[in-house]
Amino acid sequence: MAIEKIGVIGAGLMGSGIAEVCARSGYSVLVLEVNQLLLDKGLNAIRTSLTRGAERGKITEADKTATLGRLRGTTNLADFNDRDLVIEAIVEDMAKKKDVFKQLDKICPKSAILATNTSCLAVIEMAMCTQRPDRVLGIHFFNPAPVMKLVELVKTIAVSPETVAEAKAFGESLGKKAIFAPDSPGFVVNRLLVPYMIDAIRIFEAGTATAEDIDQGMVLGCNHPMGPLALTDLVGLDTAMLVANAMYEEFKEPRFAAPPLLKKMVAAGRLGRKTGRGFYQYS
Ligand code: 3HC
Repeated sequence: MAIEKIGVIGAGLMGSGIAEVCARSGYSVLVLEVNQLLLDKGLNAIRTSLTRGAERGKITEADKTATLGRLRGTTNLADFNDRDLVIEAIVEDMAKKKDVFKQLDKICPKSAILATNTSCLAVIEMAMCTQRPDRVLGIHFFNPAPVMKLVELVKTIAVSPETVAEAKAFGESLGKKAIFAPDSPGFVVNRLLVPYMIDAIRIFEAGTATAEDIDQGMVLGCNHPMGPLALTDLVGLDTAMLVANAMYEEFKEPRFAAPPLLKKMVAAGRLGRKTGRGFYQYS
């Protein structure tokens, strides 16, 4: 099946990034938010990102205009009735995700692929809310979605090989490499990355090293683009904690348990860049 029309549910950090990269790759993209205010915020973030790209000479003004022309917003899920592929990128709340999948299954064409961008939740549970579990999988993007070159394709035990092949071709059409991941918390990348991030928090919490030294250590000593605490600020401390909790719940390994400082910072609303404060302050 040729994928031409994409739907993105949620225009937050990940949803807007996914919508941007899809529109830039030539797809017609419809983005949904729960209200006009959040929708405008998401669409503005995409406009700003494209403007920055044009100013830096990464895309032409004509590309920017054409990309924006392929992008539409809505607050009505019923508008997704002509989409070939829908990517859900809402909050990591299983009840809410199940509800979205139930509704999408009724609204979207029978042939449409329904995907989730979840970082840690069981994709099979969402798939089983539909009459088409063979057409449901995880397509997991990385932050910032327009920049990072990977998508993880999360295969449930019910997804068909045809769906996986179509999703792989779609990921590659966005200029990304696709890897296959099991439907278990953390998939491949977060299963390795989150223990590293929470180990850095433990070192910081114990007073063993400053945040700056931990981050510089990994940037200058290992050539990572950013240190683990700055990365946790980018990803969101709440997201890091959700992934850690999901992995701990599943595998019961102490190394996956969220450190006390992470829990306290999340409780205090210090979620990283998105709230202006995490391990660092942001203006
Ligand atoms: N949207 C679009 N483009 C962006 C962007 C954004 N939000 N942020 C940065 N860019 C682009 C810039 O325009 C620039 O493009 P150019 O090189 O073509 O001019 C390029 O990315 C580099 O940006 P900057 O020069 O502003 O800054 P840096 O060189 O410091 O790069 C970074 C920023 C790309 C974020 C880099 O630090 C990096 O790769 N960090 C690691 C990110 C990472 O590991 N992400 C994965 C997190 S895990 C995850 O998401 C999974 C989830 O489930 C938790």
